[in-house]
Amino acid sequence: MKGVILHGGHGTRLRPLTHTGPKQLLPIANKPMSNYCVDTLIQAGINEIAFIIGGIGAEKVKEFYGNGEKFGVKFSYIEQDYPKGIAHAISLCEDFINNEKFVVFLGDNIINKNISEYILNFQKSNVEASLLLCEVNNPSQFGIAEIKNNKIVNITEKPKNPITNFAVTGIYCLTSHIFEIIKKLKPSWRNELEIADALQMLIEEEEELTFEMITDFWKDTGTPKDIIQANKKILENMKEFQKGVIEDGVIISGKVMIEKGTIIKKGVKITGPVIIGKNCIIENNSHIKENTSIGNNCQIRGSTITDSIIMSDCIFEGKFDIKNSIIGSNSKILQNSNNTNNEFLLGEGSQISI
Ligand code: DAU
Repeated sequence: MKGVILHGGHGTRLRPLTHTGPKQLLPIANKPMSNYCVDTLIQAGINEIAFIIGGIGAEKVKEFYGNGEKFGVKFSYIEQDYPKGIAHAISLCEDFINNEKFVVFLGDNIINKNISEYILNFQKSNVEASLLLCEVNNPSQFGIAEIKNNKIVNITEKPKNPITNFAVTGIYCLTSHIFEIIKKLKPSWRNELEIADALQMLIEEEEELTFEMITDFWKDTGTPKDIIQANKKILENMKEFQKGVIEDGVIISGKVMIEKGTIIKKGVKITGPVIIGKNCIIENNSHIKENTSIGNNCQIRGSTITDSIIMSDCIFEGKFDIKNSIIGSNSKILQNSNNTNNEFLLGEGSQISI
């Protein structure tokens, strides 16, 4: 079976973070979010993966993933000129798929589940599609499935009055029959070729759609809040390691991951779960608190950071608090006043004096 990762789109709800690159490369626990999709697919035995790329910074995807050698699999890239919908993106893979069965993974979906069995069950079956569903409490924001007698009988994209709360997650097992279906689709009200409409057409053709439920963690990381929540969940599930230098007089509690080349100086407090990347300096009584990821080459002098993602090469100087924030790489926050409590969503290269 082959894999397809959707890595295009505009990422408008995540601006300014997406002014300089695709949202799927934004880091969660110091790793691009789409890398979790790649890991999940490789873990399930998929060794040929195509990325659909397009939009701002599409070349950064190629730069990061390369030909797949580093991952021990084969990667290829298919360009989408404009985000005309998930079904449109899938339609571009027809030659790559070459009549095999395949799995599509939306590059902004993160799950905490081994999907090997789901994929194996689909491979053995003769159904045209199998979906992963997850119960949500905001069903009008997703494709929603209606189930009767353990069968999917209807799928509606973002219904105003949802009949169930079973969201269709962004992981779809499909056969090449989907390409014939997509050719018949008409653009939706948002002018996209919708995967939900393609799946609904399959149901109307009386094809059986099987499904499995995700009962553990699933997140569509559409908004900054979603990303901060995904970061928390991934950190909670990471294995602890400490490869940097931790001076005497540092207080560490909870699960803490510290990469090579990082120095944590006397007087600093770290309350996990926290990850700190390579070659950072944390000093001047800084307090790095729970659910925080700090990228490589950061310097934190005196600040308290909670529930936040700080990308690489940032400098914070001053005794201020940062909470629920996402800070793009190469940003500087320097203190000139007594402002202490701050929430930020800063794109790459921002500079702030508070
Ligand atoms: O996350 C699950 C949901 O994903 C499903 O429940 C919905 O049925 C499905 O339509 C989709 O909804 P979203 O509105 O969240 O999709 P979004 O536009 O955010 O696109 C999902 C991913 O696919 C994202 O990583 C960007 C990428 N994409 C999207 C479009 C429209 C492309 O690569 N090309 C595209 O043309």
